[in-house]
Amino acid sequence: MFPQTRLSRLRSNNIIRAMVREHQVNTCDLIQPVFVHHRDGTRQEIASMPGQYQLDVAYAAEWSVRLYEDGIRSILLFGIPSVKDETGSDSWDDDKGIIQRALRAIRQAVPEMLIITDVCFCEYTSHGHCGIMVERNGQMVLDHDATCKNLVRQAVSHVHAGADMIAPSGMIDGMIAVIRNGLDQTGFNHIPIMSYAVKYASAFYGPFRDAAEGAPKYGDRRTHQMDPANSDEALREASEDINQGADMIMVKPALAYMDIIRRVKDRFGIPTAAYHVSGEYAMIKAAAERGWLDEKAVTLEILTSLKRAGADMIITYHAADAAKWIPEG
Ligand code: PBG
Repeated sequence: MFPQTRLSRLRSNNIIRAMVREHQVNTCDLIQPVFVHHRDGTRQEIASMPGQYQLDVAYAAEWSVRLYEDGIRSILLFGIPSVKDETGSDSWDDDKGIIQRALRAIRQAVPEMLIITDVCFCEYTSHGHCGIMVERNGQMVLDHDATCKNLVRQAVSHVHAGADMIAPSGMIDGMIAVIRNGLDQTGFNHIPIMSYAVKYASAFYGPFRDAAEGAPKYGDRRTHQMDPANSDEALREASEDINQGADMIMVKPALAYMDIIRRVKDRFGIPTAAYHVSGEYAMIKAAAERGWLDEKAVTLEILTSLKRAGADMIITYHAADAAKWIPEG
């Protein structure tokens, strides 16, 4: 007790503070999302995400080399196809698919990079939904079982083209079991799955839908993504995906859901990822542009806080910048 105890003694200088620091962010914890499009010879900044771009395959490969040089060891690929259809068939086109082309180019440019692919359909379908839609009682809804069959095609095609890890993001019931089984049967039992197991129906995805051009043309995703009001249900979702064979679990978004990260980590002790999403990035960028926040300081504070909350790795649009800032301490 005070006055014998004075907690400030261990905060008196940089060396002591570093010595007693409980959590820190390393570049190997950070995963940079990369958006790739078919418009060859072009790159386009995403209006609502300053500093983030839709890149053609060649630019994506070039940027990957620079990311690797800066210490980033892992990227998460999103594809924007030139033609969208009812089923999202570009996503499993072994030859011309945008992700498959990007995988081959990035692999060649920087063989050591760990390349994760987002496996979903919303970027690839004409209606912007995450799978096959069917009519039920006069309403269009997702057909989870039919979607699962196509998810296997997409995942296997990605791995054929060079993906190191698969990240299914659709919150489709049963998706992990079928993808695991599909990979195992095609000789890919060594490929890990990072499941977007606990993904909320969040307004924080707004800017992403511009970036990936995957906004739903009608309706929303609340019939399959989680209700932000729920917490116990997050544990049921995580438990399901772990039982189905997920190697890693993701909680998404990050900042408003730190309690969920902590609960999932404490309950399951499985490698847990936080996805610091597009809207969270946009808020920081907007405030920093106006001089209202110190971008570097708040970014490092948030990333450190996500580690403290229990995240082992963080998917973040700040990864490229943070990699440059981290060595400065
Ligand atoms: C679905 C997907 C989404 C995000 C990642 N994967 C969008 C959605 O579910 O509507 C959002 C990522 C972000 O906001 O940064 N393929």
